[in-house]
Amino acid sequence: MGRAGILIAVAGISVAGMFAAPRCHAAAHPVRVDEHSNCIACHADHATEPYVHAALKSGCISCHQVENHDDASYVAVQPKESNGCRECHAAGPVLHPHLPYASGMCTRCHDPHASKFPGLLRARVNDVCLDCHLQGRVKHPSRYLPTIELTSDYRFGHPYARHPVNGSPDPIRGGELSCISCHLPHGGNKLHQLRMGDEIPEDALNQNTETKDVCQKCHMKLWGMDNIRKKKRSR
Ligand code: HEC
Ligand code: HEC
Ligand code: HEC
Ligand code: HEC
Ligand code: HEC
Ligand code: HEC
Ligand code: HEC
Repeated sequence: MGRAGILIAVAGISVAGMFAAPRCHAAAHPVRVDEHSNCIACHADHATEPYVHAALKSGCISCHQVENHDDASYVAVQPKESNGCRECHAAGPVLHPHLPYASGMCTRCHDPHASKFPGLLRARVNDVCLDCHLQGRVKHPSRYLPTIELTSDYRFGHPYARHPVNGSPDPIRGGELSCISCHLPHGGNKLHQLRMGDEIPEDALNQNTETKDVCQKCHMKLWGMDNIRKKKRSR
């Protein structure tokens, strides 16, 4: 196993140990069911949130397998590797994959059924991310789990002291600024899973953000200068 392999294995163990959701596979389903049962009749709460997973249209048994033995029913999630998510959502190779994505912890961030939050997220996107990355909240910080420091209202402090991480508009994607305004949640080809630019200024607050790749895309737009640039380019 190479160095990268060892690192991933170590981080994998610590992350799985710290964050994996508890599972119970052994217990029998409280009532007898088979693959033709109307699951929704009893589990309507799994399909009534504002955002419902399109996979539910293919039926509950596209992810759950029902087995009957000894007069009891057992409902398991199948297949076990990444809970079957990859059956329908194939992952393309990237240079910097996000470890919880690459290791199949899909349901750590997503509800497999339905959610109050866009993207079937278990919580507001920044809350999902800060659960693992906020300095102070992380119980077992290690160099395999980088953390960031924010003000106590979780609004400012990253990537630089006065920079907002929410509560302002996202000039590129629309909606509110969040962790995924700058980072790709599943990983990407740029350093630090950044959406834009590899070039990160050392002391950005004192620099002209127009010239720095990672900052300029948003800030040219914030300052209404994106059109000027386009005209220059098309000469
Ligand atoms: C007659 C009502 C009823 C029907 C029909 C029903 N369930 Fe359940 N199910 C329950 C109850 C009650 C529980 C226990 C409380 C809970 O977790 O909501 C449960 C628990 C579960 C659980 C968690 C515990 C476990 O056994 O793993 C799963 C998964 C599940 N049901 C899936 C299904 C699927 C899939 C179907 C359709 C094939 C289905 N249920 C049909 C009533 C029902
Ligand atoms: C896209 C895959 C997928 C589909 C489709 C799906 N489930 Fe699940 N379900 C899961 C996974 C994965 C879990 C394991 C718990 C977790 O990680 O949140 C689970 C857990 C459950 C549980 C127990 C834990 C909980 O969240 O309450 C119940 C009950 C359940 N499913 C019912 C259903 C019913 C009813 C349907 C159909 C309406 C359904 N599921 C369709 C993937 C799916
Ligand atoms: C039976 C096929 C199937 C399976 C299995 C499946 N999905 Fe999906 N999923 C879909 C379809 C279809 C859509 C809607 C089209 C799309 O966005 O690709 C979707 C959309 C999504 C979305 C985007 C929702 C949105 O509103 O933007 C998320 C997140 C997602 N799935 C997560 C999961 C997770 C997590 C699992 C494993 C628990 C899973 N899926 C398993 C079929 C599936
Ligand atoms: C670290 C948290 C996290 C993990 C782990 C994760 N996702 Fe996501 N996923 C997100 C976020 C955040 C979005 C963007 C939601 C939005 O745009 O509102 C997203 C978006 C999606 C979408 C919508 C289409 C797209 O690609 O943008 C699908 C489908 C999806 N995820 C499936 C998966 C599957 C399958 C897995 C596991 C292999 C997984 N996710 C693991 C956070 C995560
Ligand atoms: C379950 C815990 C967990 C959650 C939730 C999570 N991450 Fe991570 N993240 C990790 C781990 C572990 C690593 C380190 C992987 C490594 O060292 O290869 C990481 C790495 C990163 C990195 C790369 C740091 C670098 O310097 O390359 C970024 C950026 C990041 N996560 C952003 C996010 C965002 C944005 C979200 C929310 C959408 C999120 N994370 C949610 C566990 C998590
Ligand atoms: C305005 C853009 C932007 C936003 C918003 C943003 N980040 Fe970052 N993030 C960066 C940049 C640039 C870096 C690389 C520079 C650095 O290490 O500080 C980075 C680095 C990181 C790292 C790696 C830190 C390390 O020490 O290796 C993590 C983890 C991270 N971000 C998580 C998050 C989370 C969680 C959120 C949401 C609360 C978030 N980021 C919001 C731009 C952003
Ligand atoms: C995803 C878009 C985005 C990216 C990328 C981004 N910013 Fe920002 N930045 C914002 C938004 C939005 C604000 C708040 C503007 C407002 O509320 O009027 C802001 C505010 C600022 C401020 C003003 C803070 C204050 O003192 O009030 C500075 C300085 C700044 N950004 C520098 C940077 C630097 C340096 C980078 C590159 C590392 C960067 N930004 C990357 C969106 C972004």
